[in-house]
Amino acid sequence: KNLVILVSGSGTNLQRIIDTVENGEIQNAKVSLVVADRECYGLERAKNHNIEAVLIPRGKNFSSELGKIIPENTDLIVLAGFLSILKPEFCENWENKIINIHPALLPKYGGKGMWGHHVHNAVIEAKEKESGATVHFVTVGIDEGEAILQKSFEITENDTPETLAEKVHKIEYEIFPIAINKVLGNN
Ligand code: GRF
Repeated sequence: KNLVILVSGSGTNLQRIIDTVENGEIQNAKVSLVVADRECYGLERAKNHNIEAVLIPRGKNFSSELGKIIPENTDLIVLAGFLSILKPEFCENWENKIINIHPALLPKYGGKGMWGHHVHNAVIEAKEKESGATVHFVTVGIDEGEAILQKSFEITENDTPETLAEKVHKIEYEIFPIAINKVLGNN
């Protein structure tokens, strides 16, 4: 199965996907292309593994440019710390073939602007007792697609947005490969 990964940042989730594809934890899969919407370390990670890495600058033409270069035989598009919003037409063309990882327990703390530390700040401010990560299908409504896998952890008194970010990342590394296997129909 051919995976295309979209990134905007340091790409530690991308790295986890590359590693688990290479070690067989994600079965029968290949990362055929990595696309970033800005200069970021994620692009270097792809190049380090001889994976084609393309930069399409973010903006109103991102989705249509992506549509032009994405291989037709792509089985799954994975948003791994990707900050642009894909156009409705793109989401509809690739229905059920785009997934995203979100650093909170959706449907809570989803929607435009709810990413990274914005999410963790909001979770701390609301004095939530737990947080976690969610892998979900991408649909036209932002962060509204069906959840594929979610895992939570308890928040302690000492947690800060920074410690939450760290804990959420650990959970992401755990659930992302499992969720990808699930969507690909692997056991
Ligand atoms: C992850 O926490 C993801 O949920 C969020 O952005 C972060 C990306 O981190 N949308 P990285 O680039 O994979 O290290």
